[in-house]
Amino acid sequence: MQKDFLSLSDWSLEDLEKIFTLTGDLKSRQKAGLQQNLLAGKTLGMLFEKSSTRTRVSFEVGMYQLGGHALFLASGSTQVGRGEPIKDTARCMARYVDGVMIRTYSQDTVEEFAKYSAVPVINGLTDLYHPCQLMADLFTVRERREDYRGLTYCWVGDGNNMANSWINAATVFGFELRVATPAGYEPDAMVKERAAEAGAKIIYTNNPAEAARGAQVLSTDVWASMGQEAEQQERQKIFTGYQINMELVKLAGPECLVMHCLPAHRDEEITDEVMESRHSIIFDQAENRLHVQKAIMATLMG
Ligand code: CP
Ligand code: NVA
Repeated sequence: MQKDFLSLSDWSLEDLEKIFTLTGDLKSRQKAGLQQNLLAGKTLGMLFEKSSTRTRVSFEVGMYQLGGHALFLASGSTQVGRGEPIKDTARCMARYVDGVMIRTYSQDTVEEFAKYSAVPVINGLTDLYHPCQLMADLFTVRERREDYRGLTYCWVGDGNNMANSWINAATVFGFELRVATPAGYEPDAMVKERAAEAGAKIIYTNNPAEAARGAQVLSTDVWASMGQEAEQQERQKIFTGYQINMELVKLAGPECLVMHCLPAHRDEEITDEVMESRHSIIFDQAENRLHVQKAIMATLMG
């Protein structure tokens, strides 16, 4: 079993399935009001270099529900924000806390942190990956479709951290994935290459309709991610046509599920109509961040 949760590609299908089983158990116990004190007396340090609503709240509440405690550290109010080397911060934090969650820009930062940290490190989003989100997303589909690994998934929009994580998920879980992005906004080349080498069933296209036709799950994300705010207007033009709307949902089929990691820009990458439709499982995805991350923390820190 891995010490850290930095990328889905570090984990085996078997171990990720164990996390899903524990997630289901923790979710039922929470709904039934039962004790889940798997991390009593333990502390999670949460280091944020980017904004967050869901990640911060779900990790902090998750630690509390497991009998532990979480510390919110905005990088600007720590010495990290003043340039203290990651390897020094990592070694000091590991002497106080039992696990660390980091949201930052470069994947190298979380890798470096994990290298020097004696305690488990969890990736709470980088420019490259968002693995906790993917675990929540797949758990949400798994709750509705027993054969979630046999479905065809479709990604429409930017080839960003979420798209890269979908590619890793398709590789580990073995499902078919179709990725539709504008030319020049494809997912990370190294991530694509590794998936291809591992024999993943992934189709890349610039045509959203082609990708969506007959897919059982459609997913998207904002056109400009955190750190790309200056490109927002330009991207709005380039990404026109890469929207999940009712027309695309119809091409997918009457039972298709629609996902978005949130925050969403309604009527840009996804219409308000689709978000509010019976196809949307978006708010269950958001809820499942809590349950799945509790299972990840209990697995790594328990
Ligand atoms: N989906 C997600 O990670 O949301 P936040 O940015 O609000 O944490
Ligand atoms: N791609 C988005 C995801 C937010 C949860 C971003 O990085 O801003």
